[in-house]
Amino acid sequence: MQPSPYTPGEIARAVPGRAHQLAELDERLSVLVDLRRLVGRIRVDHAARGFGKTSLLREYQRRAVLRGANTVWVTAGETPGLIRQIVDELQRNDDTAGTALRDRVDSVRLSLGVPGIATATGTFRAAAQDDESAVTGARAFEDVIRAATAERPLVILVDEIQSADAAGLRTLVYAWQHLQAEGADVPAAVFAAGLLNAPETIAEVVTFSERLAYRPLGPLHRDAEEIALVGPARLLGVQWSPEAVDRALTIAQGYPYSVQLIADATWTAAGRPDPGTIIDVRSVELGQHSMQADLDALFRARWSACSNSERRMLTAMAELGDGPQSRSSIAAALETGTNQLSTPRARLIDKGLVQPADRGMLEFTIPGFAAFIRAEQS
Ligand SMILES: Nc1ncnc2c1ncn2[C@@H]1O[C@H](COP(=O)(O)OP(=O)(O)OP(=O)(O)O)[C@@H](O)[C@H]1O
Ligand SMILES: [Mg+2]
Repeated sequence: MQPSPYTPGEIARAVPGRAHQLAELDERLSVLVDLRRLVGRIRVDHAARGFGKTSLLREYQRRAVLRGANTVWVTAGETPGLIRQIVDELQRNDDTAGTALRDRVDSVRLSLGVPGIATATGTFRAAAQDDESAVTGARAFEDVIRAATAERPLVILVDEIQSADAAGLRTLVYAWQHLQAEGADVPAAVFAAGLLNAPETIAEVVTFSERLAYRPLGPLHRDAEEIALVGPARLLGVQWSPEAVDRALTIAQGYPYSVQLIADATWTAAGRPDPGTIIDVRSVELGQHSMQADLDALFRARWSACSNSERRMLTAMAELGDGPQSRSSIAAALETGTNQLSTPRARLIDKGLVQPADRGMLEFTIPGFAAFIRAEQS
């Protein structure tokens, strides 16, 4: 008996199928580490829940560390705000932090308003919402970045960037814009991950979105899925039969979270196999049964957060099939006009449940959601 090597709901130990992203990262790390230059654009990998954003960002971090960079990880949306989070982490993890950095950090804290001081000076926090003070904050933050990169290149990783506070985002982007103009020799980079709506949420806050490089993170190709499935088993001396692989990949449909769910459930159904075992299709069938509960839980949470009109639209789409659907066919199914669909459509896109596809079509973002809805309705 061997414990499952799969990682449903956890950071993936390897990220097959992300070679393209990693090649781009390596190129940026080369600019950073070999040329000691600023990576001028903030990269944002974005996708719906469960597509492997955090796992990819952790892999970026691992590679940055291997190249000798200092890294700082923050999950945006927590109370002290993005800039404070970054600055606090910097100070916490940099054991070599010299006095120069400490002084700069203190000055950012001041310009962002430390509780206590904030009350003494009146409405510091409210003022921090303004563009103007974001610029002031950006200068102070920029000084921190300069001080923090004096010895080693710095990589800042921001997960869930769509949840960052507006003032923090503005400060970060202004600082980066300014560094691009004047600090090309500052070896720093920002890599971020966020939900599908990250480009829109960021565009609402900062005007020059060209400072950010948005990269959609898609489903896994078949080969990558297969590697994710058979690779970890092989390391434990266990094989998957070709039929078992086929069945599992048909179930997972390229969705990373489902790959891990079906692999893990199959492993358990196969009795947590010893070395020398071959996992067969029957175990996959048993596994599918138990993974479905986990997947349904994810879908049910999304579904219950929808309004009636959103549910009607999702149901119409699901009944039309799993693939992309045209506005007119959705409207026809609902016996309404396409204009009536605008509001639920926009809300569903905002929630990351559907996304625009080619030729004005609309599609589900998470494989299996359509089938879940059909099952709910029957
Ligand atoms: N390249 C990959 N191959 C196989 N499995 C992966 C890959 N990347 C991530 N996973 C798995 O997919 C699931 C989701 O991964 P992760 O938490 O990184 O996604 P996420 O996009 O950050 O999700 P969320 O939006 O919920 O934070 C996890 O079970 C993880 O182990
Ligand atoms: Mg995540």
